[in-house]
Amino acid sequence: RYSWLMDIRDENGKRPGEEDYDPRTLYIPPSAWKKFTPFERQYWEIKAKHWEKVVFFKKGKFYELYEKDADIGHQEFDLKMTDRVNMRMVGVPEASFEQWASQFVAKGYKVAKVDQMETALKKSMNARNSKAKEEKVIKRELSQVLTAGTLVDSGFLTNDMSAYCISIKEELQPINGVSESYMVTEDRSPPKFGVCIVDTTTATFKFSSFVDDIDRTRFETLLIQYKPKEIVIERGGLSQRTVQMLKRIIGNKDQWNVLIPEKEFWGPEKTELELKIQDYFKDSKIKENDQNRNIPDNWPSVLKQAANEPVLLSAIGGLLWYLQSLKIDRELFSLKNFSFYDPVNDASSLILDGQTLMNLEVFQNNGDGSTEGTLFELLEHCTTPFGKRQFRNWICHPLRDIDAIEDRLNASDDMLNIYVEENNSSLVDYIDTILRKLPDLERIISRIHAGSCKVKEFIQSLKAFTIIMELFINVLNSQVDHLTSKRLKEIAQFGFFDVLKEELVWFQNAFDWEKAIKDNNITPVDGYDETYDETKQAIKDIEMELQDYLRKIQKKLGSKDIVYKDLGKEIYQIQVPKRLVKSVPKDWIQMSKTQAVNRYYNANLRNDIQRLNEAKELFNDAESEVKQRIYQRFDTHYDKWLKVIKLVAEVDCLACLARCREVLGEPSCRPEFVSTLDTDMTESSVLELTELRHPCVNVGVTQDFIPNDTYLGGERPKLILLTGPNMGGKSTLLRQTCIAVIMAQIGCYVPARKCRLTPFDRIFTRIGANDNILAGQSTFMIELAETSKILKEATPRSLVILDELGRGTSTFDGFSIAYSVLNYIITQIRCIGLFSTHYGMLTEEYKNNPLVACKFMSFHSDEENHEVVFLYKLTDGICPKSYGMNVANIAGVPKSIVLQAETVAAEFEKNSKIQEA
Ligand SMILES: Nc1ncnc2c1ncn2[C@@H]1O[C@H](COP(=O)(O)OP(=O)(O)OP(=O)(O)O)[C@@H](O)[C@H]1O
Ligand SMILES: [Mg+2]
Repeated sequence: RYSWLMDIRDENGKRPGEEDYDPRTLYIPPSAWKKFTPFERQYWEIKAKHWEKVVFFKKGKFYELYEKDADIGHQEFDLKMTDRVNMRMVGVPEASFEQWASQFVAKGYKVAKVDQMETALKKSMNARNSKAKEEKVIKRELSQVLTAGTLVDSGFLTNDMSAYCISIKEELQPINGVSESYMVTEDRSPPKFGVCIVDTTTATFKFSSFVDDIDRTRFETLLIQYKPKEIVIERGGLSQRTVQMLKRIIGNKDQWNVLIPEKEFWGPEKTELELKIQDYFKDSKIKENDQNRNIPDNWPSVLKQAANEPVLLSAIGGLLWYLQSLKIDRELFSLKNFSFYDPVNDASSLILDGQTLMNLEVFQNNGDGSTEGTLFELLEHCTTPFGKRQFRNWICHPLRDIDAIEDRLNASDDMLNIYVEENNSSLVDYIDTILRKLPDLERIISRIHAGSCKVKEFIQSLKAFTIIMELFINVLNSQVDHLTSKRLKEIAQFGFFDVLKEELVWFQNAFDWEKAIKDNNITPVDGYDETYDETKQAIKDIEMELQDYLRKIQKKLGSKDIVYKDLGKEIYQIQVPKRLVKSVPKDWIQMSKTQAVNRYYNANLRNDIQRLNEAKELFNDAESEVKQRIYQRFDTHYDKWLKVIKLVAEVDCLACLARCREVLGEPSCRPEFVSTLDTDMTESSVLELTELRHPCVNVGVTQDFIPNDTYLGGERPKLILLTGPNMGGKSTLLRQTCIAVIMAQIGCYVPARKCRLTPFDRIFTRIGANDNILAGQSTFMIELAETSKILKEATPRSLVILDELGRGTSTFDGFSIAYSVLNYIITQIRCIGLFSTHYGMLTEEYKNNPLVACKFMSFHSDEENHEVVFLYKLTDGICPKSYGMNVANIAGVPKSIVLQAETVAAEFEKNSKIQEA
């Protein structure tokens, strides 16, 4: 229909596919603008700036989608297509907007909502007041943009877990020791990152800035920990390797917001200026008195600190621009929920880098990428959504401090051991019955701050906080003497609830909660709000006048049968029985009639009704202002409410650790932590696991998982060199060892008969799965890069897992590399480790080395039938063969090929023995 829709171009005339094409804008030629009706002009003015979004355009009681958006609605959801004069259209009723919008967002679309900014009545009121010439169309504006990573309203949220949107700024650093003028090359320069992460549902911001290694270990870890739904980046601002990593981990390009440098993705100066102009933090009590300072005093201290870091400030700037374009910047920034975040270098926790999180399938399995079979799915048994989110953090950052870990274990013991008489149940079950009643408070209080909370949710949160007060004061506090966990005791005796209790009482008195839920509106008791009371009275007065007027007319026409009748919008029609119609004054205008009556308006009445409607409009305003005022009152204590929620989340997580024990099966045990020193007084690690199982591996109904003992360090060698047939259970053993350490350091029981260990500082894993995905780099290259990283960073307190190192290259090179790496680990790093291999030569080299224990996964073999029965039992010694032929058999490789392969293998073996000799 329009030529400019047949040949799409952006506002700069670029076509899709051309470099720097901006999919957000659409070029509409001047000739087209001239021909638009006022309504079309209004629509296309908005649509041209939001071309990539699905625009929901409010029209009366409907939201309408036109042209391209109509096609999408029709194709994706089978919405009925109508052909208007100049536009194809589909529509949805206004009441179902949330439902439809969230379906579009779930499919990956961005939704822009355009609303009418005035009612027809208000419009005429305004027009009369301002005497301005009446515009032909009702004023409409973009009121909301919904995207997968930035949803805020509960109606759109389907998942308890956080959805993150992160903004990334990258800068390549000159290489150490090389003069600045030396060209910064992408391949060898370490990148510096500024990252700003936001969870819009709770208005929580995390700032991070760090210099990374060229493999971008920290950045990768951050991405895997947060798994962002949406990213904000600068056009041309990221290095090739970073872009590749984003593609690999985040995928879906629809959720990449590529902003124009400086103009949109602001640099540090522009960001600082904008933050000053917007003045998001004005409510701060600290006055700006020091004129010389660049950064205003009322900025939160975290932001002040961030402002010293240009890369970070720019990342904040990119996100700020984006949130402004979504119109949610103010509500989010003004909550001041800022903190710093370091994905890796947290000195107090067991570091699990991105590789390790992936290799061990902590949050996502390596099969279909879902959460099935992951450690998180196994352990997460929180009751509240905010507990769940907190628990994910706990798994990202297990503890390192023995006292802290023991205290968590004590807390979960308390949860199970303490018996609550009132409820006839254990503490953990009692806490669960209370927590079950809580809505997602963390999200709701940020909605209350934004003023967009639904009344029902507001009341729910008031009730929930009342319940929480009960939990803390009645339950935990009454058990204080029985608690062995210091932290639980601290929480039980937490002090500032008096203020909040008073607040809750105030809200209780200010309005009727149940009525508010029923009316979906807050009606304050009399005397609470002046404007509210006044406007309410004004309506009453006019209604009284109208009644007086009716009595006057009844008297004048001499009949009590004359009454008011409301018909739709035409209220207060004077209804006159047919027999009295003759005496109706000439200037009355007939509005409607039936067989028995006629109904009229007159000038006086019209005037009063207009006044009444206007009074009602003012009352509505006053009423919604009351709601806002009540919300604001609640919001003044935001920090305290949030603190309470965080404490409840913590209790929930501790209860979860107690509940975890049930899913571990038998035997399971409380890990025992020791701190040991070597004879030369250096730190020495120990890891002793008796009858350990992998808690996530499902081996089917007929067969049980075979437990294994793993003893490392202390009196024994620190490293196990593991051999065994293919499919024999080597990788599983490596993984389960790491999983046990993670569980122990989270403060969880371990699926073993006995577990004794020193806390570890980091788990390094090099497991040969899914490396081929990184385009442009060879498997071997990646393998070596990762290994060299381990060699550089591992300490005596680390746990290192190397699965078939050297597999990616020729046998001899691979063996040599494996040999040297192993040697370095046992003599220089001296950490605990497991090293699996298929290289017979390697085990030959180390079989008499006291620093290494050679073990293999046992099996029965039946050479005749090419059959191997796996026993999965860890056994001292060396596995003579890899039995790859057996696996070939199982995998269904034709018999003849297997037989031929065997002959060839035997030949090889003979020859290489001759060579060696
Ligand atoms: N202890 C165990 N008890 C029961 N089944 C096990 C055990 N360990 C492993 N398995 C089963 O054996 C399968 C193969 O294990 P795994 O991948 O660890 O073998 P692998 O020795 O690493 O093989 P490859 O040499 O081919 O890498 C697992 O998927 C699991 O089903
Ligand atoms: Mg393996």
